[in-house]
Amino acid sequence: MSGRVGIAVVGCGYVADSYRHCFALHERALRIVGVFDRDADRLAKFTACWGDRAYASLDAVMRDDDVQIVVNLTDPENHAAVTRAAFDAGKHVYSEKPLALTTQEAMALRDHAREAGVRFASAPCNSLGESAQTAWAAVRAGKIGPVRLVYAELDDGMIHRANYQTWISKSGRAWPARGEFETGCTFEHAGYALMILTAMLGPVRRVTSFSAEIIADKKVTPALHTRTPDFSVGMLEFDNGVVARVTNSIVAPYDHRMRLIGDEGCIEIRELWDYASQVVLRPVAQGRFARLMERHLGRGPGRTLRPVRKPPIGGRAHHVRMDFMRGVAELADAIVSGRASRLDEDLAVHITEVTEMLQHPDRFSRPALVQSTFAPIAPMDWAC
Ligand SMILES: NC(=O)c1ccc[n+]([C@@H]2O[C@H](COP(=O)([O-])OP(=O)(O)OC[C@H]3O[C@@H](n4cnc5c(N)ncnc54)[C@H](O)[C@@H]3O)[C@@H](O)[C@H]2O)c1
Repeated sequence: MSGRVGIAVVGCGYVADSYRHCFALHERALRIVGVFDRDADRLAKFTACWGDRAYASLDAVMRDDDVQIVVNLTDPENHAAVTRAAFDAGKHVYSEKPLALTTQEAMALRDHAREAGVRFASAPCNSLGESAQTAWAAVRAGKIGPVRLVYAELDDGMIHRANYQTWISKSGRAWPARGEFETGCTFEHAGYALMILTAMLGPVRRVTSFSAEIIADKKVTPALHTRTPDFSVGMLEFDNGVVARVTNSIVAPYDHRMRLIGDEGCIEIRELWDYASQVVLRPVAQGRFARLMERHLGRGPGRTLRPVRKPPIGGRAHHVRMDFMRGVAELADAIVSGRASRLDEDLAVHITEVTEMLQHPDRFSRPALVQSTFAPIAPMDWAC
């Protein structure tokens, strides 16, 4: 056996191709021992595309002593069962998000991992990306003074109107629209903002949120089984007093910005899914020119920050600009060197809890109803 950490991929669907593509960046640390999908056709297509060894069953994965980490890339409904099977077999687990579909289940998984004496970490790992680290370094260096407020957007545009039928992964898996709609865009995407924010700011203490299903008919046949919010907006209050507004939707036009606002200015990460994203520093607009720029262009003067490290380049933009395998490599390195992982189970549970509060505020509190109302207001009678 080589010094590389042996991993097995369980779930060879759409995102597995992205992980597999990024594996090339981590070949010195990781070794893919084999892969498994309970859908035999999917497994055959994946192994034909990448040349990996196929396991005959989930049990076979769990019995293989060469496997140290199970990379759980199943769909969210199946995460917990596969993760538990791996713990029972003494394997460490790196799970795709959401860790589980409820906080209670995520906590139970964390306890299970501890009882089994194994490590447990979760995607997304974009907090380890160059753009997030560049922004964080600038915050630590005091470039904007103390952070007071954050706006983070994960709006994806009207996905149900996009030609997602043409989104096919390298091994031929169509983007699983039904599953994505049923799981909900907040459960799918809030982690991309929360991972960065919690790394920089620490734990969240209070969440005040609203969610709604804005577009009930997503033109999926047969109709979706569950009604899931496709929009959420939440205010997070961190232990350290910082306040953040996090918005998720598959309705509003595409916007994946994060703006960190401090006493002395604002740091903007243009695209949270891009490790090579531009990170811009803008001082507080004070003078007349800067204020006019903000007013007419929507942004004041700023300068692009030099990345703390050059992101890996090559391959198709989407995959390499977000290195999916970096989180697995982080867990492997933490195991080998006996250190804490930057994506460990306490953090993963915390992200799951905050995400559940964002997507399903009704599970946690009831909104107050407004008592007052008023008569309809007539428009001005000007001809168009
Ligand atoms: N689709 C994306 O763009 C994307 C991006 C980032 C993260 N993710 C996350 O990755 C995960 C997987 O998403 P996906 O888009 O690849 O879904 P997918 O439906 O394409 O793939 C999931 C695969 O897991 C397999 N599977 C389910 N249960 C299994 C089990 N018990 N044993 C073995 N195989 C099993 C299914 O047969 C399927 O092939 C989700 O948690 C999702 O949130 C998806």
